[in-house]
Amino acid sequence: MYEKIKNSANYITRFLENEKYTIGIILGTGLGELGKSIEIKHTIPYAAIPNFPVSTVQGHKGNLLIGKFGGKNVIAMQGRFHYYEGYPMQEVTFPVRVLHEIGVKQLFVSNAAGGVNTSFLTGELMIITDHINLFPEHPLRGKNLDELGPRFPGMTEAYSPRLIRIAEECGRKLNINLRHGVYAGLQGPSFETPAEYNWIRVIGGDAVGMSTVPEIIVARHMDMECFGISVITNSTASPEAIKTNHTEVQDIGKTAQPRMTALFREIISRL
Ligand code: HPA
Repeated sequence: MYEKIKNSANYITRFLENEKYTIGIILGTGLGELGKSIEIKHTIPYAAIPNFPVSTVQGHKGNLLIGKFGGKNVIAMQGRFHYYEGYPMQEVTFPVRVLHEIGVKQLFVSNAAGGVNTSFLTGELMIITDHINLFPEHPLRGKNLDELGPRFPGMTEAYSPRLIRIAEECGRKLNINLRHGVYAGLQGPSFETPAEYNWIRVIGGDAVGMSTVPEIIVARHMDMECFGISVITNSTASPEAIKTNHTEVQDIGKTAQPRMTALFREIISRL
């Protein structure tokens, strides 16, 4: 496994022209547009990278973008791998390990999520302060890769309090309203039943989605500093509101893009 990570990292490193890249971004829903704001030096299709899984979901591109954003060198994943697509957890999280091997120290992610907290409105942005892992498989299950991190990594402060503080300052400066909350991650691909949304609310979730948690666990295993934002694409507050569909999730995701891009640019420019 570690050899595979190194092979992929070596391939990508050739495009970095001896410059340092310490910032990684996963462009989930709400951040796809950010890709257009990067001064791109190289676009590497996932299919060209040795050992990389290949993206299958409609509307998700599969490229690694290498360039400058907010005045900093960044590597952005345009398209992520979801567990519901059928990949084992080790493949879902493989790119995060490769980013770390390249030298990435800070990981920024975004996602679309259902707002379980009844005060959340659709289109709002939620800073992820913590998560609840409800996936049926753990990304660190199996032999521990001691080169990468400990067998039993801690998960307190999985989302960097320092980056959250910077994000709050940036939100104030840019006049972007930011909520805070706990992201519950589960496998999908079906949206939740009313009873399931209620259960997530009862166990302490504010938002629910189908990504992010495995990536953050693997990143924290390697001691990367993590930051995540959810776009609240649908409210789960009432049975009428719950009738979630993918088109609606994508549409609301799009309206959040300019705010999300501006916020990430401001945060990254301050690092
Ligand atoms: N549930 C799970 N994932 C989601 C949702 C939801 O309601 N909305 C957007 N992604």
